[in-house]
Amino acid sequence: MGFALPSCLGDNEGMSDGQDFGMRPPGADKWNERFSDAHTAYGTDPNDFLAEVAARIPEGPVLVIAAGEGRNAIYVARRGHAVTAVDQSEVAMANAASRAAACGASLTTVVADLADYDFGQQRWAGIVSIWTHMPPPLRRRVFTACVAALRPGGALVLEAYAPGQLERPGRGGPPVRPWLLAAEEARELFAGLELEVCREVERDIAEGRYHVGPSTTTQVLGFRA
Ligand SMILES: C[S@@+](CC[C@H](N)C(=O)[O-])C[C@H]1O[C@@H](n2cnc3c(N)ncnc32)[C@H](O)[C@@H]1O
Repeated sequence: MGFALPSCLGDNEGMSDGQDFGMRPPGADKWNERFSDAHTAYGTDPNDFLAEVAARIPEGPVLVIAAGEGRNAIYVARRGHAVTAVDQSEVAMANAASRAAACGASLTTVVADLADYDFGQQRWAGIVSIWTHMPPPLRRRVFTACVAALRPGGALVLEAYAPGQLERPGRGGPPVRPWLLAAEEARELFAGLELEVCREVERDIAEGRYHVGPSTTTQVLGFRA
């Protein structure tokens, strides 16, 4: 079960000290601090969009990027995929590993900055990106690498906050426009995929203590030809 704690802190609440959210991401230390809390930051249930479309991921290994404390990676692993979870936060990856062990799921965890991670070529049957918010140059680099790293027929599953989320302060997502992903930009970034879903939606979110309430997101389900 996810937590419904009485907090409506924004995604990056407490993460703006000295950081301009221009091209400088909050580093692993900030995320380590967040994930050191006794409660899971984003709950233990999988992301709603992932749960909706996970059955569309073909058989084979799956990469979950910016995996946090592992709720999505564990969900996919329990569906029978060999899952690699990557995140820059060593606390997040340690939490993910112990949560996976506690529920008997097998998970490979990798502590790495996505800027340096080797995604490989035609390697993954699925890549899952939930709330992976990055400055635009890194976003382009990472998502271009994701397309190249999918096997033919492989699926990309993504949900990210859209620019409309700026009108919902404290509900989740980075508080600056360049870090948010519009469906229009997603269509361009993922032009190498056959896009079955690429849309902005308004939906209620209850994913842990930091992502709460009415929200505007971009959802993508695409397949490599
Ligand atoms: C909002 S949390 C979401 C966690 C997880 N996807 C979930 O839905 O529960 C964002 C995650 O992205 C990770 N992250 C952000 N930028 C990253 C980067 N450049 N490299 C690796 N991880 C990154 C953070 O460490 C954090 O775990």
